[in-house]
Amino acid sequence: MIALGSDHAGFSLKEKIKSYLQEKGIECRDFGCYTPESFDYAVAASRACGAVVNGECKFAILCCGTGIGISMAANKIKGIRAAACTNYFGAKYTRAHNDANVLCLGERVTGAGLALELVDVFLNTEFDGGRHQRRIDQISALEKGEKIE
Ligand code: RB5
Repeated sequence: MIALGSDHAGFSLKEKIKSYLQEKGIECRDFGCYTPESFDYAVAASRACGAVVNGECKFAILCCGTGIGISMAANKIKGIRAAACTNYFGAKYTRAHNDANVLCLGERVTGAGLALELVDVFLNTEFDGGRHQRRIDQISALEKGEKIE
């Protein structure tokens, strides 16, 4: 199950991603917004990422105007590793090396065609583990307020 969320500026892209996933038979749950009216990206991030943290959804895909504000909000949530991606390499390696569990996209930055390619590569790339796990553990330590050296 994939969680989806957006603010008003990412609404149209989020709707396109929802249709794309549904056409591919990939289950998703839309946490809003549900209209193009003004809607705050932190609320969308909170709702969709909550479903990742509680295990209902494996990943979340979030959209705002730039992909940045919603990624900042998502990364404040414990257990979330959100990446704002604008290119194929970033979307692939944030899974392979960072074990990202949230992909953030900017409707005003990235065209829908490329955005759907980024969704595909993000969902289909496994975490490499190994030496990268140590770095994920360091991120988790920072999240707990620990100092690392
Ligand atoms: C909304 O106008 C816009 O600020 C928001 O979608 C996002 O781009 C913020 O990072």
